[in-house]
Amino acid sequence: MLRLALTKGRIEKKALEYLAEGGYDVSELDEDKKGRKLLFRVGEDIEVVLAKAADVITYVEHGVCDGGIVGEDTLMEAEASVYELLDLGFGVCRFALAGPKGKNFYDGYSHKVIASKYPNVTKNYFNARGVDVEVVKIDGSVELAPILGLSDAIVDIVETGSTLKANGLEVYEDVAPISARFIANTASVKMKKNEFDSLLGKLKTVVADHLK
Ligand code: PRP
Repeated sequence: MLRLALTKGRIEKKALEYLAEGGYDVSELDEDKKGRKLLFRVGEDIEVVLAKAADVITYVEHGVCDGGIVGEDTLMEAEASVYELLDLGFGVCRFALAGPKGKNFYDGYSHKVIASKYPNVTKNYFNARGVDVEVVKIDGSVELAPILGLSDAIVDIVETGSTLKANGLEVYEDVAPISARFIANTASVKMKKNEFDSLLGKLKTVVADHLK
């Protein structure tokens, strides 16, 4: 038996689609059946729990879930000790540095302030470039921070770019690509090798089919 944690919401929907295409019975998680339940059977040998992205990583890192599906954004921020086994190729977007339109971020000598829901990603990015910035953690709608004058720029997820555009902001530079990843607990991968091989084999075929 493998216990997997799936990130609730958009990733959950795609992950279930991929599991179904891999031949797993995901009917317990049908929208009209699942109600408020959080733990489900997917066929004979997989149990699925639904959780928030950061919690998916916590459950997998602690080994109470063997594997999970989560966005690379949350993985990069968590800096957890889990194995990243497969890029599932969905949930594609990117981290970008963005700010008020028409400004050159690196102009001037003043100390820059960056607002982000992802302070670790932001610090790592600027540290690697030897640029000293102050990072302010914001929990949502981070686009407000430069508009209100709290920060010079933001590091955030950009998918279509419409949120930035609607708020008079633009991408200054790309920080990192993002997509959904299959992760595993480092001990479970060894102890349940056959179960992982079987599931990964099926998921790899589904991923390859979607790339055709
Ligand atoms: C994310 C992100 C941006 C938006 C980007 O926010 O933080 O605000 O999506 O998407 P776009 O480029 O297609 O406009 P989310 O919807 O997760 O909400 P939040 O800001 O409240 O976290």
